[in-house]
Parts: sequence; structure tokens; C-alpha cells
Amino acid sequence: MRSFLYLILLLSFSLCSGAQEISIIPKPASLKKGTGVFNLSKSTSLVIQDEGDLPAAEFLNSYLEQIYGFRLTVSKTPGINTIRFYTKKFIKAPETDGYTFEATAKGISVSGDTYAGTFHGMQTLIQLLPVTKATLLKVPAVSIQDAPRFGYRGMHLDVSRHFFPLSFVKKYIDYIAMHKMNYFHWHLTDDQGWRIEIKKYPKLTTVGGWRNGTIIGRYPGTGNDGLKYGGFYTQDEVKEVVAYAAARHVTVVPEIEMPGHASAAIAAYPDLSCFPTEPTKSFFPKDCTWAGDTTGKQVQQTWGVFDDVFCAGKENTFNFLKDVLDEVLPLFPSEIVHVGGDECPKANWKRCPLCQQRMKENGLKDEHELQSYFIQRMEKYLNTKGRKLIGWDEILEGGLAPNAAVMSWRGEAGGIAAAKQHHEVVMTPTDYVYFDYSQTTNEDSVTIGGYVNLEKVYGYNPIPPALNAAEAKYVLGAQANLWSEYLKNTRKVEYMIFPRMTALSEVLWTQPANKSWADFEKRLQTQFKRFDRWNTNYSRAFFDLKSSVLPAPGNNGLIWKLESKQPSVQIRYKQSAPGVETDITTGSQIYKTAVPIKSSTTIAGWSTTGTQVNNQPIVQEFRFNLATGKKVTLATPPANKYISDGAFTLVNGIQNEKGMSRAREFLGFEGTDCDATIDLGKLTTVKEITAHTLEQRGTWIYYPSAMEVFVSSDGKSFKSVGTTSDITAQKTLNLPLPAPLQTRYIRVWVKNKGVIPTGLPGADHRAWLFVDELEVR
Ligand code: ACM
Ligand code: ZN
Repeated sequence: MRSFLYLILLLSFSLCSGAQEISIIPKPASLKKGTGVFNLSKSTSLVIQDEGDLPAAEFLNSYLEQIYGFRLTVSKTPGINTIRFYTKKFIKAPETDGYTFEATAKGISVSGDTYAGTFHGMQTLIQLLPVTKATLLKVPAVSIQDAPRFGYRGMHLDVSRHFFPLSFVKKYIDYIAMHKMNYFHWHLTDDQGWRIEIKKYPKLTTVGGWRNGTIIGRYPGTGNDGLKYGGFYTQDEVKEVVAYAAARHVTVVPEIEMPGHASAAIAAYPDLSCFPTEPTKSFFPKDCTWAGDTTGKQVQQTWGVFDDVFCAGKENTFNFLKDVLDEVLPLFPSEIVHVGGDECPKANWKRCPLCQQRMKENGLKDEHELQSYFIQRMEKYLNTKGRKLIGWDEILEGGLAPNAAVMSWRGEAGGIAAAKQHHEVVMTPTDYVYFDYSQTTNEDSVTIGGYVNLEKVYGYNPIPPALNAAEAKYVLGAQANLWSEYLKNTRKVEYMIFPRMTALSEVLWTQPANKSWADFEKRLQTQFKRFDRWNTNYSRAFFDLKSSVLPAPGNNGLIWKLESKQPSVQIRYKQSAPGVETDITTGSQIYKTAVPIKSSTTIAGWSTTGTQVNNQPIVQEFRFNLATGKKVTLATPPANKYISDGAFTLVNGIQNEKGMSRAREFLGFEGTDCDATIDLGKLTTVKEITAHTLEQRGTWIYYPSAMEVFVSSDGKSFKSVGTTSDITAQKTLNLPLPAPLQTRYIRVWVKNKGVIPTGLPGADHRAWLFVDELEVR
């Protein structure tokens, strides 16, 4: 009897074992598991109510064909063994693009409030299919009610810095659709290449679409590859992309950049510049290498922000841009049209007689108001064509155009200000959704820097607490931006978006109360298998061995922690003398708990599976001084995107010698000072104070103007003990005290360079200040 029961259990188990574990991302609003499975096989057919649901059926069929090797017949005749797509069409107001999904042993029905809703429901079905190839696909019985949190769920792609083939643009749109996202922001023009055919201005693509070389490696680069690089999309190709996206309920928003980021257009038509005869090379950063022709206007070969922008004083500029839009608008049915508006230096406008005359004639008090004038003219034009203007948050400066929507990228402040003025907002803050930033602290490919890991993306809430409920309605949603300076091929694009885009999809679709990081981590394991099925490249940073440094209890030194989410690994570590190269083949120990670090040392950690070492060891050198691991506070916090481990970063024993490739070791202060007070815990004899800093002018990071040091025995009354402004060869400010003194508290005030002088990158803006470590000896 007992063995018979066992047999029945075994049988029922193996009957169901093929059904996919339910693992849907983004997480549906409500999901009830039923009993049994629907057997999807070649004999199943798809039933649509009308042509509006045909794209959903087509998408499913192409997915089935690609992943499982078969297609299903499509008809309008209901029957048994069917998957039915049935759009209710507008019975609910307002339309949400929600859907109802029912799978039973008899059949599946997917019923959207709109055609888009049905399409999203079909994506849910795809996620209920097994992740292994089979001919009989068991879909678990389930009942789902679902609807998105936000109406704008976007992904951006920069095709100017690097150009991607049409086939990949389509694949990118598929990825958007498969994440139930619905906007594709196509960044088509920039300094390094104009990428859309404009028939009236053929040189935009024959000249502006090509550059004579590209810097090698991370800015400012180790040289220039000297290779002609470029490409563009014809208007027919653009139409193909837009139609492809429409069939996936994805709206394509074109971006035509103005008035800045205009070098490629100017290279094609120099008269668009305030100074048509000034060669581009004369604006080129001195620390980057140029290739080819140095005369006249050229397409840029490095990254950054360039002074040569569209002249706001010439009518010709506005006529040109209207002509361009006259060809762009018919290609893109999107109501919103992006005109850029970011990072427009005002240096040329300041010295251009025509720009100055324009300001005088229109009573504009400064160049920010001239930029606002520029955008407002373009907005009027777009409005006459029935379109809405959207621009980066700089379009707030000098006054927002009356109907404009704002894409908030420099944090959320611009989005908050716009929503409070009752303008529509799409949130794209660098801190959470810049997918060109590194997603791991162990990144071994070149990225632009920054650090936005998966959990950070997942934790993002596009509605900032500063907005009340009425204002929050102006936040349409959010979007991740993918700038392509360091994305030379499509595999790298995939690596940067996955799995962060998967996390973002849940941020945008799922109500916050229904989200859970722990639950997402579990569902992510299935998503990784889907990526494998799709032959998609993705980052494994989630599984990386992670190291972190913390102050030891009682601020007595440091502790070094290692963690891995990879199942069944053993973590090992080895400590050696400072600066000594680690040989991991001998003398290592099994890691059980955080390692106390009490003096200067080099430590390496890695994980193993059996006898195999899984990763390049994480090697960390700690250099101890009197401040290491001590309590430290900051008068002004660093900028969010360079916040690292907060003030503790300054005394964590890690001196960054790798520059921006180890951006996480720095605190970055945007226009402000690094004003830190260290508590040594007891009266201590002190001889010398050192601050470790960085300069990288192209990204507006400048050495500090000075460091002033104060001491105190009570933490209340401080006395200055000296100032220095000499930067040493080791990129430090060093202040030896005239005589050793006894103190408990030390205030180290590292002063920002302030407003960047004319002629240097970022002129007129306040400099960034980067500090990685403070030393007390
Ligand atoms: C931007 O990242 N410059 C919008
Ligand atoms: Zn001008």
C-alpha cells in the first residue's frame, strides 16, 4: 500500500513537473494559482477577436518559433484547445492597458482593456512557458488581474556615440515590449554623429554621420584609433522601426538635440555655428588625441560637452531646425517629441554679436533666458503641428516653455520643480536609472563611471516624497538612459541593460506595496534562464563576490566582509604584507565571518566551487593611519551619485590610485566643499594631515583650491593650524604641522575650486571636488 501511494505521488509529480514555476516580472497586481496545467502544443490554435489583436498573436508565434521551433495557426473561430486574445476595448475608464489572464486545463484567455493590455497579457503567457526547450509546453493554471502603475515606461538608446544596426534597434524594442514597457527614446543626434536622413540637408548624414576617429579607452583616452566611424538610418528604415514598435505597443520618441550637442550638424552646415570659420579642433580638449583633418568644422572624436552650439541669433538656425522637424514629424506619430536642451555651454553665445542682439531685442537678461527663448520658439512650432515638446531638465533654466514636459536627469529636482508648476515629467535620474554607469564595483570593462547596482534600480520610486498627490499625477513614469560612449557593440548594450532593465520594469509596472526585493531576487533566477534562452548577454554582477569595508566595533580598526549570492560556493581569503602580490595557491583560509583589519595589509578574497576558482580575486590594500576606521562626519553631504559609503569612505584605509575606474572609492561634491571632522577617540599626537584627491577636467572634476586644518580637544571650539594649496605629485594636499600637537578632533576642510574659469571645460559651472581619503599621522 505504502509503495502504491508512493507511486501515485511520484506519477502526479512527474505529470506536473514540466509546468513552469510561476515567476513573472514585473509582478502582476493579483495572481491566483489554479489546479492543473494547460498543454500548449502544435495542435493548439490562437483565436483573435479582430485584427487589433493580430500583433499579439504574431509576437507569440514568432517567440514560439524562435524558442521552441513551432508556430500556431491563427483564426477568428473559437474552439477547444485555444489561446484566445480578446480585447474588451474601452469598457473601463480611464484606459490603463491592464488585462485579465485565465489559464485552465481547457484553454487560455487573455483579455485586455485595450489592445496594448492584451499584448501585455500575452507577455505574461510567455513568462509562464517553460524555460527549457520542449514541444509540449505546460502552462500552469492561473488567474491574473493586472495593470501598470505608470503610463510612461521607457528605455532610451544613444545611437550617436556609437551606431547600432537596424536589426539591433528592433531587438531593443522587443526587449522593451517583453518587459511590458512602452516607450523607446531614440537619441538620434549628438556631437559625435547625426544619425537620421534629412532629405533637404543631405550633408547631415554624408558629413555629420561620420567621424575621423574615436579616442581609445576611458576619457581622455590613451590615443585615437584613427578609424572612420559612422552610419545613419534612412527615412525608410526609420519608418520600419516605428511600425515595428507600433506592432509591439511601443511609442518611439525621437530626440533631435538643440541648442547644444550640435557639433555633427555644425560640421555639415558650419553656418549653424555662431562662428562658422573657427575650426572645431580649437575647441577640442587638450588632453584628448585628434585624428585626421584639423581644419574647419568636424564631427567630435571624444566625449563630453562642447562650446560650439547652434547660434541662437540667426534666423537661419530656426529655419533649419523647423525644416528638420518637418521631415522628422511625419516619421514619428508620437505626440511627444524630444528636443534635448541639456548641457548647452553659453560661451559662444556670450561672444556672438547676433546672439547678444537677439537678447537685447527680446529683453532677455542672460544666456539662460536666451536658451529658454530658443526652446519656446521650438515649442510653439511643435504645438502648431499638434505635438508636445519634451526636453532635459535644463529647459527649466530661464523659464519653462508653456506646455513643455521635462525629463529630469540631474537628480529629481528638475522633475519636482516641473511637477509643482503642473508640467508633465518623466524621471530619469542619474542616481537610479543611468544604465551607462557601472553595475558592479569589480567592473572590468570600461564604463563612464558611477555605480548603480541592481538593488538600487529596484528600490527606485519615481514619485518623490516632495510631491503631494495632485502634483504626483504629473509624473508620467520613468526611463533608463543608455548613453553609448563606451558601448562599442550590441553585446555590451545588452550587458549594460540586463538585468537592470528587468528591475526597472517592476518599478514602473508594479504598485510599491506589491514589490519585494527578496521575492524579486527569486524570480530573477528564472529571468536569467530566459536571457540564456534568448541568447542575450547580461551582467552576472548579481552573483559577484562582493566585498565591503566597515568600521570595527568601537572604531577600533576595520572589518572586511565578503558575500556571494552564488549557490554552493566556498569563499576563501588570504592576507599578506602591504603591497605584496597575492599568491592564492597557498596559505588561504575559508572565510566564515568578517575579517578584522587592524593594520596596513593586503587582503584577497575569492570564491570556489569544488576545486575551481570562480573569480579573479578581489584584492584590497589597506593603508592605516591614525584616522583609519575612526568616527567622521561631514558638514555637507556628497552628491548622491558619488556617495559611496558616506563619510566613512574618507577613513576606510583605501587610497584610490586607479582614478575614475574605481569611482566608488571617491566622495564627489558637486560645487561644494568636503568639510570633514574626524574624532580620533582620545587625545592623540598628530604631525601631518593629508587629503587624497583627483582632477579630471573633461568631466569638470578639479583639484581643490586649498585644504585648511583645525584641531579641537572638545569637538566644540576649533583652532586653525594651517592651510595649503599645493597639490603634490601623488594628487594629495599635504599639511605637515610646524610641531607635533595633541588633539582628539581634527576638522579637514578641503575647499572646492568654485566656479570654473573661462576657457576650461565646464566654464561658469561650479567644479566637482573628488576626495577619496583623509590621512592623519
Ligand atoms: C544627459 O545625460 N546629458 C541628459
Ligand atoms: Zn550666435
